[in-house]
Amino acid sequence: MGSSSQSALQTKTKLVIDILIFVGFLLAMDPRATGIALHEWLTVAAMAAVITHLLLSWQWIVEVTRRFFNMKAARPRLNYVLNVLLFIDMTLIMFTGIMISQSFIPFWGIQLAENFSMRRFHDMTANLFILLLGLHVALHWNWIVNTAKRYILQPFAGLAAKKSEANEVKA
Ligand code: HEM
Repeated sequence: MGSSSQSALQTKTKLVIDILIFVGFLLAMDPRATGIALHEWLTVAAMAAVITHLLLSWQWIVEVTRRFFNMKAARPRLNYVLNVLLFIDMTLIMFTGIMISQSFIPFWGIQLAENFSMRRFHDMTANLFILLLGLHVALHWNWIVNTAKRYILQPFAGLAAKKSEANEVKA
């Protein structure tokens, strides 16, 4: 496979994973709609995926962290800081979620006392995540629009054009 088609494949994979994460996050933000059990098991599975992803990218993380201290441009610095904040906030959401768990933790035979401040903290950190995610999306807006145009809108427009061409030939 040539390097350009390989990077096109990587970009498509990234787009699909980003869409899945975004939809998963929207589902996680409404536990009353999904039910608490699905909310907990889905997010714990996501956490396992995130940890695996970080371990697999460890070399890259070490490299970027080392480079961060030599960066001159503001944008990649801001991007890096934002990613670190997203990670810290995600860890807090998970920790507080585990502390108020009604399905995942009891499943292992562990019973935790009700904790109202943890509950409030869980809600607060989840709301803060929306703000951080909004900034993250804003920083990557050009990539999102260009990739969605190239891999979603244009293929659909092409299909529609082919269909109407075929209809014209039939008529
Ligand atoms: C991406 C990760 C997560 C997000 C974005 C998230 C978000 C939320 C939100 C927005 C609520 C509603 C808060 C309210 O309106 O009172 C909630 C409730 C809850 N979450 Fe999570 N959560 C996540 C992970 C977890 C995890 C890992 C667990 C436990 C294993 C968990 C357990 C709970 C429980 C038990 C409630 C219900 C609290 C109640 O109303 O009784 N969450 N979560």
